[in-house]
Amino acid sequence: MEAKRAAAERAVSYVTDGMVVGLGTGSTANWAIRALGEGVKAGLRIKAVASSVASEQLALEAGIAITDFSALSRIDVTIDGADEVDPEANLIKGGSGALLREKILAYNSRQFIVVVDEAKLVDTLGKFPLPVEIAPFAAALTLRQLQRLGCQASIRHQGGERFVTDNANLVADCSFGIIASPGKLYEQLALLPGVMEQGLFLQPMVSRLIIGYLDGRVEDR
Ligand code: A5P
Repeated sequence: MEAKRAAAERAVSYVTDGMVVGLGTGSTANWAIRALGEGVKAGLRIKAVASSVASEQLALEAGIAITDFSALSRIDVTIDGADEVDPEANLIKGGSGALLREKILAYNSRQFIVVVDEAKLVDTLGKFPLPVEIAPFAAALTLRQLQRLGCQASIRHQGGERFVTDNANLVADCSFGIIASPGKLYEQLALLPGVMEQGLFLQPMVSRLIIGYLDGRVEDR
C-alpha cells in the first residue's frame, strides 16, 4: 500500500496549475486522486476527467471538480496504474474493468504517467489475464474468437453476476500465460469484431513510469 501511495504522490508532483488531468482507476490511481484532492484544497487549480464512475465519485469526495469527456479539447496529463509492466513499459491494464476510458485518456494525453508498485514488474506480459472489453450481444461468438488466439478466455463475473463495465459492455479475461509478441497480439485483437477495447497498452504510450518499492524507494523512469 505504501509503495503504491509513494509512486502516486510522486506522479502528482508533476501536476501544475491550469492542467487538465485524466484520473485513472484502481487502488494506485486512487492514491493519486486523494493527493490531487489535497492539492486542490491547498489551492491547486485543475480540471479533471475520470476514467470510471468509481474514480469520479472519489474525486468529487476529495473536492476535485469533474469535467465531461465531451467538454475537453486537450488533456495535459493522465495518471493511472497498471496490472503488469514489462521492461519496455508495455502494459496490461483493465483489472478494474475501466480499460476503454483509460485508453482513451492515455491516448489523448500529452503525458501518460503510470504508477505501480514493484509487484507489477514482469519480464514478459501475460501472467495476469488480459482484460478485453466486448460487446454483450455477441459475447459467445467473440469469446470463441479470443480462444482461437491461444488463450483461456472467460467472461468476468462479480458477486455471481456478469461484470458490466461503465460503458455497458462485458469483460473477457484472457489467460495467455506468456504473451511472446505483444505487438502481434495487439493487432490480432484490434482486428476482431466485437472487441470494444483491449487491455494491452503498448509503447510509445507511456511517457513516465513511476515505481514504488517496498523499501520506500521511488524510481522515476
Ligand atoms: C483499471 O481498469 C486497471 O487498469 C488498473 O489501473 C489496474 O487494475 C491497477 O490496479 P491497482 O492500482 O489497484 O493495482
